[in-house]
Parts: sequence; C-alpha cells; structure tokens
Amino acid sequence: MRTLTIAGALIASALLTGAAATQSSRAGTDVEQRIDALLAKMTLPEKLGQLQQLDGEANGNARPEHAELAKAGRLGSTLNVRGAARVNALQRVAVEQSRLRVPLIFAFDVIHGYRTVFPIPLGEAASWDPAAVERAAAVAAAESRASGIHWTFAPMVDIARDARWGRVAEGSGEDPHLGAIMAAARVRGFQGDDYSRPDRIVACAKHWVAYGAAEGGRDYNTTDLSEHTLRTIYFPPFHAAVQAGAGTFMSAFNSLNGVPTSGNPWTLRQILRDEWKFDGMVVSDYNSISEMIAHGVAAGEADAARIGLTNGVDMEMVSRTIATHGEPLVREGKLPMSAVDEAVRRVLRIKMRAGLFERPYADEALERTTVLKPEFRQAAREVAARSMVLLKNDGGVLPLSTDVGRLAVIGMLANDRENMMGNWTGDGRASDVVTILEGIRQAVSPKTTVDYAAGVGISVERLRVETDQQRADDERGMDEAVKIATAADAILLVLGETGGMSGEASSRASIDLPGRQLALAERVIAATRGAKKPVAVVLLNGRPLAIPELAQQAPAILDAWFPGTEAGHAVADVLFGRVNPGGKLPVTFPRHVGQLPMSYNYLPTGRPPQASQKYTSKYLDVDVTPLFPFGHGLSYTTFALRDVRLSAPRIAADGTVRVSVDVENTGVRAGDEVVQVYVRDVVASVSRPVTELKAFSRVSLRPGQRQQVTFTLGPRELGFYNQRMQWVVEPGRFDVRVGTSAVGGLQASFEVQ
Ligand code: GLC
Repeated sequence: MRTLTIAGALIASALLTGAAATQSSRAGTDVEQRIDALLAKMTLPEKLGQLQQLDGEANGNARPEHAELAKAGRLGSTLNVRGAARVNALQRVAVEQSRLRVPLIFAFDVIHGYRTVFPIPLGEAASWDPAAVERAAAVAAAESRASGIHWTFAPMVDIARDARWGRVAEGSGEDPHLGAIMAAARVRGFQGDDYSRPDRIVACAKHWVAYGAAEGGRDYNTTDLSEHTLRTIYFPPFHAAVQAGAGTFMSAFNSLNGVPTSGNPWTLRQILRDEWKFDGMVVSDYNSISEMIAHGVAAGEADAARIGLTNGVDMEMVSRTIATHGEPLVREGKLPMSAVDEAVRRVLRIKMRAGLFERPYADEALERTTVLKPEFRQAAREVAARSMVLLKNDGGVLPLSTDVGRLAVIGMLANDRENMMGNWTGDGRASDVVTILEGIRQAVSPKTTVDYAAGVGISVERLRVETDQQRADDERGMDEAVKIATAADAILLVLGETGGMSGEASSRASIDLPGRQLALAERVIAATRGAKKPVAVVLLNGRPLAIPELAQQAPAILDAWFPGTEAGHAVADVLFGRVNPGGKLPVTFPRHVGQLPMSYNYLPTGRPPQASQKYTSKYLDVDVTPLFPFGHGLSYTTFALRDVRLSAPRIAADGTVRVSVDVENTGVRAGDEVVQVYVRDVVASVSRPVTELKAFSRVSLRPGQRQQVTFTLGPRELGFYNQRMQWVVEPGRFDVRVGTSAVGGLQASFEVQ
C-alpha cells in the first residue's frame, strides 16, 4: 500500500489557475522593468510614501493633508475617498504635481455591493451558486471603478465557527470547501481576468489569517490554532483566492499563536510567499501595525514599523509608523533598504497591473450611467432571492397566495430600509432600498389588504439597557400586533437582528432573537392558532440565531439574511412563490449559544455522543445536534436522490473516483436542489472529521425531471495534512455520502489502495 505525498508547494503551483498565471505573465518583464526604472529614481521618502495609505472621510471626501502629501510624493493610497470627481481631484495632484507622477490607488470596502447593495456575503454564500456570487462581485466592480475606486477590501474569506463573532456575516461561513469556492468566485467577479479594465477592481483576500477563530467569539481576540487546523480549515479559502489571482491580501488584527498576524513571518512570508508564490501586495488592517505595541511585541512605533515591514506587510493602513520612522530605521541600519524596495515594488506592481499609470482618472460621465443601473438592481433582486433559505415549511404554509384577503405584516424590520443592507453597506443608500412591506404591497392583488404593526423595538443600545417606556411601548406594540393578526387571513412575522448587530466590533454573547421578538411571535401564534391561519416568519440576520422556541412554534421560517437594496422585491418573490427558494445554510444553526464554537465537520472524539451513555461527549441540558444543520434548506417542491454509483470500488492513492447520483424533482413546481458530496476518511494517521463537504452542485429541475449529477474525487478531495504537514492520501476505506445537507443522504464506500 502506498501513501501519496504531495508537498504543499507542489499543490499550489500545480493548481495555479489561468487567472493568476495570465495576470503574472502579462505583468512579466515589462512591468518589472518599469518598476526597476521607477524605483531607481525614487528617494527614500518617496518610497516610504508609496507604503502609506490614509483614511478619507466617511462620506467619501479626501482630507486636506492628502493633497499636500500626494504633491510631495508621500502618499500611496487612500481608503474611503470615492466618487469620480473627488478621486480625480486628488489624483490630479499626484499625477500632475508630484515629482515622479506616481498615481494613487483608491480603495474602499466594497463588501457586497458599491451603490447597488447585494445580500451580505453570508447570504450570498447561502445561494451555493458561485456564478451568482461572481455576478454580484462583477456588478460591484463596475459601479466601483466607474466611481473612481480601484481596489476593494474584499472578499473577506475568514472561516467562522462561532456565531457570537459578528463578522461571520461578512464571510462564507464555516466550511473550507464552500469558502474556497466562494472566495474564488468573488475574486473572479471583482477582477475578471484583467483588473486594468474600466469595469474591474483589485481584490483583497482578508483577514490573513484565522481572525474568525477569535476566542469567545469576541472580535479582535486571541487566536491559537495548530498548524494542522490552520492548513485544513482556515487556509483553503485564502489559497483559493491566490489561485484565482487575487491582487492583494490584508493582514489581520489578531495574534496567532502569540504572533500578531500583521507581523508574522510564518504566515506572511513562508506560507504566502514561499509556499503559495503570491506576488501581490499585502496591506495591513486599520492601525494593525501600530497595534503591535498594544499586543506587546513592539516597544514603540519605530519597532512596530520595523517588525511589520521586515516580516511581510507592504502597505500600512492609516497608522503612519513606516512613513514616520522608516528613514531613521534605514539610516541606523535597523531596516534594510531591500525590505523597503521589495514592498514598494509590490505596490507599484499592483498599480501597474491595475492600469493606473495609463488611465489614472475616472470617467465622470460613465459613473452617472453606471451606478444603480436597472439591470444591477435586477441582479441584486435575483441574487437575494437565490440566497434565501427555507428553514421550515410545515403544511406548505409557504408560498402565500397573492389573493390572501387580509395579510398582517408584523415586525419593525418589515418597514425598514437601512437595516435591509446589513453591515458594510458601501455607498448604498437607505433611500434606494425597497422595504419588505413595500415589496409585499406591490406583489399582492388589489383585493388583498395588508395591515402592518411594528410589534416590539430592537436596537443595539437595547441589547444592554432598556427603559420602562420602551417596555411599555413593547406591550402596546404586542397588543396592536395581536389585533391585526386576529383580523387577518394570514400572518407574516418579520423578525431578527438590526444590521448593526453583526459585522465588525459587533460580537454578541447571546445569539437569541434580540428584545421581545420571541414573546411577540408567541403571542401572535397563540392568538391565531385556533383559527388555523397560515403563519410564516421571515428572518433577517447576520449570523446563525439560536431560535429553538420559534422553530418549534412557527410553521414556516424563511431566512432572508440581509437582502440588500432589493430586499422587499426579493422577499415578496419568494414569499408568494414567484421564486422557489433553493438556498442552503453555509453555517450551522445551534440550539444554544453554549454549543459554540460549532461546525458540522467535527472530529469524532473517542466518545462520540450517545444519549444512552452518560460518559460520552454531550451536555446535560442541551442536545448536541444543531437546530438546523450546515447545508440545510427546503423548497416549495420535493426532490429525491437515487442510485448513488461509484466508478470503481477501489482506486490508487493518486487516482480519482467518479460519484454519480440521480436527482429528481418529485413535486409539482420547478425548483433548485443543491446536491452535496461529503466524504469521511474512516481510518487515517490523524483523526479525520466525521464528514467533510468536498463537492456540490445546484441543479434546476422542472416537475418530474430527473438528472444525473457526477462529481470527481481525487487527491485534492481525499488528502489531508498528516502529522508532518505533508498532504497525503492514505490507503483505507472512504465513506461517501451524497445528500442535501450535512446529515442524511445516500451512502457508498470505496477503498484507496
Ligand atoms: C476595518 C476592517 C477591515 C476593513 C478596514 C478598512 O477595521 O477590519 O475589514 O477593510 O478596516 O475599512
């Protein structure tokens, strides 16, 4: 029996996709020669200037000092300065008044849309549709570049297994495979195969690395992970971003195994540069260089600058340690000029690949005709609908009829614009947003009356402190809600979080429904139960929520995440059946916050949980299983998976096996199913997860239609890092499960010889 061993670097180079190869080959000698020539002319202050990124005002204005620094060649980039006219005004100073005329690169957090806001990334990931996610990023890129932005700080590709962490909203959830697929899709969408084009921008994979493993789910907190876990769980989406040709990376705030990731030579140099051959640029996160003082690894700003630049960060975001202390550090021999030149080379390389020297200015006319185009809004509506996950639908409560008679819509989020965009809303404007109430009112027939009641109030402030007046208002709000529900023929509860309850610096120790929303739902459901009226819940959330009571009482629950600018239309499309929901959970929904961190691909332990056996791994008070598992999502139709087939009962360690299954739409309505392939390496030299997603495909089927779906599993899917950190495929039995979530499905097995 032979163990197949492939060095990590070999995998990286072997799997480098066309995009990265094309990008670097076009860069090739031409760009490098141009960089050499420019570097040779630059003074040390001008070199250090290229490594400085400063923050514009939140509204997109540049700050007065930016022009002065640009003129002196002491500024390389800004973040938040945006809008073609404002960008051009500052760019003209850099290009027409500085000595070497090096253009600035303008960056912005275009996380899920620039002006047309798409669902939060966690919602987009729930589509399990890379093409849809790529389309969303391409729309964002077109609007951004037309508005003068060259570089987005996205995709955020952090794996998150703890829903207390607010930034789970910004990524693609808990799974390395789904995360890798979505990372690559977003990089392709932002960059295309040439990010110098007028409708493309430079991507930035962040936050490198393992920021999502913050202890306690508390943002910015310590992370401490084995190399095995890093390589197996946290690295894959970043590696996929490199393979897709991502132009930049962003180092993170967290310390990893005691070393801040913004000064960590192992991650920034050995992994990113030596193993993965990444030739792009690394920008630090906001002040994360100077924060190495707070981490206790830098004695002061000069020390922080030296550590950051020496260990692999190229551009400093907002803090000014490198620009301020770089000259004396070099003069005193504490910072080699070669480290400065290497960083400047990377910054110039990205600026040249982005076409900034040839076309430094934005086209103000193009901006006016590009931003918020009708087809972009339509794309946002379609992606939002494809992202929604039908968690429960007992008795086929959904879809509702548009002729329902009298519909009660309850919940303050139903009549809200700002929160529909979630967090990191780019240049999105609440005034552009279609509320859920508006979407419903436009969708129902003229004969249908829609009543609305806000119910109870929720806000970030009220998570900690509530006044008697607020409580009294809630009581009145619940009475009003019960009143319209009693008079209605169908009831829709719109519940969840506000957009500010997730995202950066927004961790929650509880992941329950905020405020008295559960009490509101229970009062409404209890008041209408006898009348057997359809009651459905639309959930708006930036993270998995622990909602066991709601899940037990509400017949139907549709998770809409934060759907973006077209929220109302997209929710109505799904609620009334114009779109059949096909989304699946990219994150596990726990029953209780006490189960966190939690993910479906856990190791079996020596004592797997058994209800009948006390001394096994479980809790006394809460079931260890999830409320809704990873990959879960229902449809308005039904599907059957049949006849799983393997191309061979045994394969060589470097061989492949094809897994085929027939999927049939056994219902009466067209719909999408996501066929998911999970693998278990039953016995290996290290303990392997009880199940791991290795492939998936979202298929659309008409009623009665049957389709064969085939997947290929090979070393990339069957291998793992052994104790010596070698990627190996070991001999033995592999169990394959083809299903529609992380639990259940059709089983098969094969042997690796
Ligand atoms: C923030 C975030 C990062 C963002 C950057 C610029 O602190 O951590 O994701 O891109 O600063 O806004």
